[in-house]
Amino acid sequence: MPTASTETVERQAAEAGRKPGRRTDRVIAASMLSPGIYEMVIRDPYVAATVRPAQFVNLYPSDATMALPRPFGVAKVEGDDVTLIYQIVGAGTREFAKLQAGGTVDVLGPLGKPFDTGKTANYVLVGGGLGVPPLLYAAQTLSKRDDGTLVTSVFGYRDVRFADELVAPFADTTHSIINAEGNVVDLLNDIEDELDGADQKPIILSCGPTPMMKAVAAWASKRNIEAQFSLEARMGCGYGACVACVVDTPQGRLKVCKDGPVFTTEQLGWEA
Ligand SMILES: Cc1cc2nc3c(=O)[nH]c(=O)nc-3n(C[C@H](O)[C@H](O)[C@H](O)COP(=O)(O)OP(=O)(O)OC[C@H]3O[C@@H](n4cnc5c(N)ncnc54)[C@H](O)[C@@H]3O)c2cc1C
Ligand code: FES
Repeated sequence: MPTASTETVERQAAEAGRKPGRRTDRVIAASMLSPGIYEMVIRDPYVAATVRPAQFVNLYPSDATMALPRPFGVAKVEGDDVTLIYQIVGAGTREFAKLQAGGTVDVLGPLGKPFDTGKTANYVLVGGGLGVPPLLYAAQTLSKRDDGTLVTSVFGYRDVRFADELVAPFADTTHSIINAEGNVVDLLNDIEDELDGADQKPIILSCGPTPMMKAVAAWASKRNIEAQFSLEARMGCGYGACVACVVDTPQGRLKVCKDGPVFTTEQLGWEA
């Protein structure tokens, strides 16, 4: 049975007063940013209009042997078009990398709890590897504010600086480091004076490998800096119906997909 178009699903959902369910989106563009790292633009007016930084979308592989969707953070929104940036790690991402402009992909979202960006602050976006894409959208969103909010990007890459040019238009200051030069905590140490001298107090929004985020949490706690972390977990459903994504926290077991993916230092017990 063919799946309904994005527009049809959205219209039906709006008429019924609920969020649209899984629908088929058109691929508008697809390209390789650097070896193994791909960008895909999908047309999804609902995601474009509603997604907030660090929320994610489920993409469903068409190969029936892969029943589970794969979650991806939103990297950019332009009009009705939503950009995702992803790394090939397994069968699902290998299939998505074959998609070309004009193709289609089944999508559900946006899902999960976003970063809390309610304060006027210097938002320091600390990302590692493929934790960088959701922070690009955080930068895009924050750059639209006219309340004195600042955006400082601090990105750590394995080798290729694939997102510096993408974040630059939305950031007041852009910093990056590759593994051979050091890690994001080295970079935070380097720019500490700059953060102290900024007009706004820093708030860290971070996404990337867990050991990196724990090190960032410790750095921030020592300096009494507020921090939020977008966790990654293997997911099943992506919306709270299974228990594939649970993490142990001082508050008990929480679901990354529904209780998160964004958590504070205190929620995670990462103050030390
Ligand atoms: C909230 C959220 C946002 C994400 N955003 C992005 C993004 O913007 N860009 C991006 O490239 N990736 C992102 N990911 C990770 C992405 O979902 C996985 O890389 C993808 O599901 C892998 O699918 P696959 O079929 O290619 O790999 P699989 O064949 O399912 O797995 C291949 C290998 O990757 C590991 N793996 C798979 N999923 C994860 C995961 N979630 N965390 C850690 N290891 C995993 C597996 O253990 C296995 O070793 C995000 C994950 C979450 C939870
Ligand atoms: S992925 Fe199913 S509960 Fe989180």
